[in-house]
Amino acid sequence: MEENCEVLAVGLRRLRSSDAPQVYQAFASNADMARQGDVSTLAQAQAYIDALIATQSPHEPWAVVEEDTLVGLVCVSVDEENLNGWFWYWMTEDARARGWMSRAAATVANWALTTRGLERLELGHRVNNPASGAVARRAGFIKEGTERQKFLIGGQRIDVDTYGRLASDPQPPINGLVLLED
Ligand SMILES: CC(C)(COP(=O)(O)OP(=O)(O)OC[C@H]1O[C@@H](n2cnc3c(N)ncnc32)[C@H](O)[C@@H]1OP(=O)(O)O)[C@@H](O)C(=O)NCCC(=O)NCCS
Repeated sequence: MEENCEVLAVGLRRLRSSDAPQVYQAFASNADMARQGDVSTLAQAQAYIDALIATQSPHEPWAVVEEDTLVGLVCVSVDEENLNGWFWYWMTEDARARGWMSRAAATVANWALTTRGLERLELGHRVNNPASGAVARRAGFIKEGTERQKFLIGGQRIDVDTYGRLASDPQPPINGLVLLED
């Protein structure tokens, strides 16, 4: 019964213009959001969403929602020519460590490699961000390599681990989230 209630409460739907206050709050919730985009005002949150949902946008953004309120984002930035997608995600501080992002990422990756017709997804995360790697692996991504000393952060060069998932790879054994398509 508890599981059913959670499935009803947490899900995925398309990102909406009206999600701007929650996007703004998410960026303010943890300093580690700084590298996810330039959002420090409500107007910037609105511009961030507008760019993602614009008609000609190459992005496929999905909101992770709790009772229809955005708590996170999973996005596939599509390279149509190669049928590839760059995969990325973030979660507001209060909704982290519940396993929701892993389930959301698995669900969106499955969708991208089936319904959306992509053939390869890829992502990268800094090695000092192990939670992101855990999400990637739980969403069925396989580690492909390490880009050594990719970023200069706080005077230190940081390695980035790279991951990929192909349409022919197995779907991960994880309980996905309800995905509401419009
Ligand atoms: C990365 C991020 C999305 C993870 O969100 P989350 O809600 O905590 O994700 P989940 O709860 O689904 O899973 C987190 C996993 O990381 C693991 N984890 C968390 N902190 C960890 C750490 N310090 N070391 C190792 N694993 C860690 C958890 O144990 C969990 O794995 P498990 O379910 O196998 O136990 C979130 O921290 C975030 O938004 N960070 C800022 C944005 C970001 O870095 N995005 C990714 C860019 S590449």
